[in-house]
Amino acid sequence: MSRPFNLIAACAENRVIGRAGRLPWRIPEDFAYFQQQTAGQIVIMGRICHETWSRAECDRRRAIVLSHDRALVRPGVLAAESLSEALGLAEPLSGDIYVCGGQRVFEEAITRPEAARLHLTLIHAELEGDRYFPDWRLGFTRVVSRRESADALWRYTFLTLER
Ligand SMILES: NC(=O)c1ccc[n+]([C@@H]2O[C@H](COP(=O)([O-])OP(=O)(O)OC[C@H]3O[C@@H](n4cnc5c(N)ncnc54)[C@H](OP(=O)(O)O)[C@@H]3O)[C@@H](O)[C@H]2O)c1
Repeated sequence: MSRPFNLIAACAENRVIGRAGRLPWRIPEDFAYFQQQTAGQIVIMGRICHETWSRAECDRRRAIVLSHDRALVRPGVLAAESLSEALGLAEPLSGDIYVCGGQRVFEEAITRPEAARLHLTLIHAELEGDRYFPDWRLGFTRVVSRRESADALWRYTFLTLER
């Protein structure tokens, strides 16, 4: 077992998280929440996710990227070939661990007993997409916090959930 970690994601009501390599929405408040929540912490993500967030190591974050390509290693960015290896690399580092996606990374992480907390922005829309968040509803039943919000295009709820 590694130490407890967080999952952080935004998904539509039908659990869509991505489309054609991008987020299917642009919600500045959610982006700011994600940045603030993960600043100074350890972020674990898949390679494609990292390609769309090339400045992951800014704001004192330490990024661990799941990839077989070790060439992406640079100051502030480590590479791991499996989630277990990534969690092992995170173990001695200071700060909380946030697993940030994409689909396969979330699917694997959510089944682990160390997945203690889920920060989920639930976007109240059914959207087309090609990447999905796993069904969390049975596993994460305790609502730690809940805040409704909206912008001109979207209605969404910031949820913090525990098992
Ligand atoms: N809404 C959200 O919260 C959220 C969060 C994250 C991503 N997204 C969206 O999801 C999409 C990107 O996610 P994705 O699922 O397509 O890709 P991804 O997980 O970001 O990257 C996939 C790559 O990561 C590596 N990888 C993933 N899991 C691995 C594992 N268990 N072991 C070893 N390597 C692993 C492999 O890299 P190599 O091929 O280099 O070996 C794989 O090709 C985009 O649309 C993005 O916008 C949304």
